[in-house]
Parts: sequence; structure tokens; C-alpha cells
Amino acid sequence: MAVLASGNGTNLQALLDDPVVRPWIVLVLSDQPEAHALERARARDVEAVVLAPAFHPDRTAYDRALREQLEQRGIEYVLLAGFMRIVGPDVVRAYAGRILNVHPALLPSFPGTHAVADALAWGVKVTGVTVHLVDEELDHGPIVLQEAVAVRPDDDWDSLESRIHEVEHRLFPAAARALAEGRLKVEGRAVHILEGTDD
Ligand code: GAR
Repeated sequence: MAVLASGNGTNLQALLDDPVVRPWIVLVLSDQPEAHALERARARDVEAVVLAPAFHPDRTAYDRALREQLEQRGIEYVLLAGFMRIVGPDVVRAYAGRILNVHPALLPSFPGTHAVADALAWGVKVTGVTVHLVDEELDHGPIVLQEAVAVRPDDDWDSLESRIHEVEHRLFPAAARALAEGRLKVEGRAVHILEGTDD
């Protein structure tokens, strides 16, 4: 498995702390040289690689380079843990049904990169977390796990994001385990999770 992350990497940490998922992770890749996620990877002896967009002329070239990085290492599954770039069609097609993304809202509400702020601005009473398979449309693929988080009247971005993170850190490793163990059965948009022995 490769984990792609652009920022702090708390979701990466949750994956690294999961005893079932950890042995699968052989690569952490970031588009941001300063991403704290890279340090989290190195601290757990996982290879950490920066793939900076500035060194690629366009999205297609970046996507090709990303695919090469993954295929060179025989990566089977890709986990998007706060990767703030659109993964292009070259990679999505090569890894169809094998890429998971964690998103801080109840999709299809609030797609994009500002989901927590967008939910607060809209005034919703309930938002949440979605873990989904990635297809060629943004924040669109079949939903694997979803859980609601209530928005409190006094919430600001920090307080709401912190409760969303708590849920993400539980849901994303659970979905990653199911993916790695071949327990995800996809029928159209419906994803069935077959029971595992460990949860
Ligand atoms: C997470 O909340 C994740 O859902 C979000 O970025 C955060 C990364 O946090 N992803 C997106 O918004 C993707 N559209 P982390 O670096 O602490 O894991």
C-alpha cells in the first residue's frame, strides 16, 4: 500500500498505528516537501518520497510520474489521506477499485478541499466523514463507510475538525483493512463489506 498525504498526516498516523494496516504500508508519498506526514513515515521506517508538481510540466506528466512511483514498488493499493491534489485518470484507471479516499463531510455534500469550512458556512446541523473508492470524478466514487458528526452551535473550524478527525481515524483504517483483505464487494455504487476475523 502507498499512502498519499499533503499535510499533517494524522490519518496516516492512524493507519500506521493500526496493527493490521501497518505491515501493508511500504510508501508514503507527498506533493509537499514540508508535509509533516513525511516525518511520520520516516519515524516508522516507511519510505517517504516527495513528488513535487513544480518539476512536472502539466497534470498529465505528474500523473504519469505518480503511476511510475507506485508501479516501481509493486504497490497494490493507494490510500489518499489528505492528498490535496486530484489523482488523474492514468492512476485512477491503473488502480481502479483499489484507491480509497477519506473526506471530511457526508458526500455528496461538500466535496472539494474546504469541506469543514463549507459545512460550517452552510449552517448544517450534521456533517461527517466519508471513506470512498476513487473514480474519475472528484469525491464521487462508491461509498465504503460513512458516519455522521453533529455540528454544535458553538463549533468553530478547529472544534468541528477535531471531532471529524476522531471519526476519520477510526473509519479510514477499518476501510483500509477491508480493502487489503479483499473484503470489499462493489455492485454499482453499493459497496458491501464482508466480515473480517479481526473486527
Ligand atoms: C482530513 O480531514 C481529510 O479528510 C481531508 O484532509 C484532512 C487531512 O488531515 N481531506 C480532504 O479534504 C480531501 N478533499 P491529516 O493530514 O491530519 O490526515
